[in-house]
Amino acid sequence: MIRTRNYLSQSVQSLRPSGIRRFFDIAATMKDVVTLGIGEPDFVTPRHIIDKSIDSLRAGQTSYTSNSGLLELRCAIADYVGGLYGIEYDPNDQIVVTVGVSEAMWLALRTILDPGDEVLVPEPCFVANAAAVEMAGGVPIHVDTFVEDHFQVTGAMLEAAVTPRTKAILINYPNNPTGAVLSRERMAEIAAVAEKYDLLVLSDEIYERLIYGVEHTNFASLPGMYERTILMSGMSKTFAMTGWRIGYVCAPREIMEGIRKLHQYLIMSAPTVGQYAALEALTHGEDDVREMRGEYDKRRRLIVDGFNQLGLHCFEPRGAFYAFPNIGVTGMSDEEFCERLLTEERVAVVPGSAFGRSGTGFVRASYATSRERIEVALERMARFMRRHG
Ligand SMILES: Cc1ncc(COP(=O)(O)O)c(C=O)c1O
Repeated sequence: MIRTRNYLSQSVQSLRPSGIRRFFDIAATMKDVVTLGIGEPDFVTPRHIIDKSIDSLRAGQTSYTSNSGLLELRCAIADYVGGLYGIEYDPNDQIVVTVGVSEAMWLALRTILDPGDEVLVPEPCFVANAAAVEMAGGVPIHVDTFVEDHFQVTGAMLEAAVTPRTKAILINYPNNPTGAVLSRERMAEIAAVAEKYDLLVLSDEIYERLIYGVEHTNFASLPGMYERTILMSGMSKTFAMTGWRIGYVCAPREIMEGIRKLHQYLIMSAPTVGQYAALEALTHGEDDVREMRGEYDKRRRLIVDGFNQLGLHCFEPRGAFYAFPNIGVTGMSDEEFCERLLTEERVAVVPGSAFGRSGTGFVRASYATSRERIEVALERMARFMRRHG
């Protein structure tokens, strides 16, 4: 019998497809594309991390781990976070090893939201954030941020969006896609709003180690915020380990109790081989972090200067590995700019509007690619701008 019903749930039907995917699909059909579209390190995971993971396989470590993750790894995460920020999480009941920050985000939202609860989501932001809130039954409340404020959200902006249904604020600094890093003062403004309206703060700090000449403020370490923060981070960006799928979530005990239950039913345990790799990364990977960060910084300066010279005004990103130039001078929409740049010059960047309304008129260019490739992209874009600038 032919299926006649639409089997997709209402909630899945109403999710918007990611605006990034479409450009990758077009780019994948073309030859010789320089892609500045992808949000992942171009580095291969450092050799010693790969070797340790292979050792674990050879030693027969191929079964599930404890639901929360290898105790040794949770201890290493506690030491790492403690060493960076001076805060303490108990490896026994305050840390869960997840399948990337992606799972951590899903767990955190699903744990705290009842249907209709609102989450303030400063934008532009990672494409999955609003969808993750919706998938958890919540309502994302978009809070626009602007280049004039260096894409930093202010307490006043958040406060204007608070309603009696607001339960949490979802922040991501250093930010994807703008590269904005929030100053400690601005973080304190968020803390004041959380305190005043009794909100939780979900802090995605996945780019915490990729910062250039500024300090990253960990949200949980702000005065009074430890009890209000769900901290999420992971291996993907810091250690060039996107494919290993390892992240972690740290939270106050009673929240973690809920998170652990969901994780256990949903995932059982994060990939075992990835957990051994993560253990090696956290305990012996600091030199790699320093080296990769140094290289990203050189690329950052190259691409930001390049865009500014082309007349594409580019706010200076202080973290992550994205530049977010304004393409207004071309008179094109960001979607049109990306499509024409791709078809005419074979350079892939992502329309800013894919990251929220306030990204309109900008494009995201990832500099997680070699300086040689960035130079080729800039040459091609110079040709494009001579025609359209
Ligand atoms: C802000 C942000 N959060 C989370 C993720 C997903 O990270 P993971 O690989 O740890 O699932 C990404 C990946 O691009 C990201 O940019």
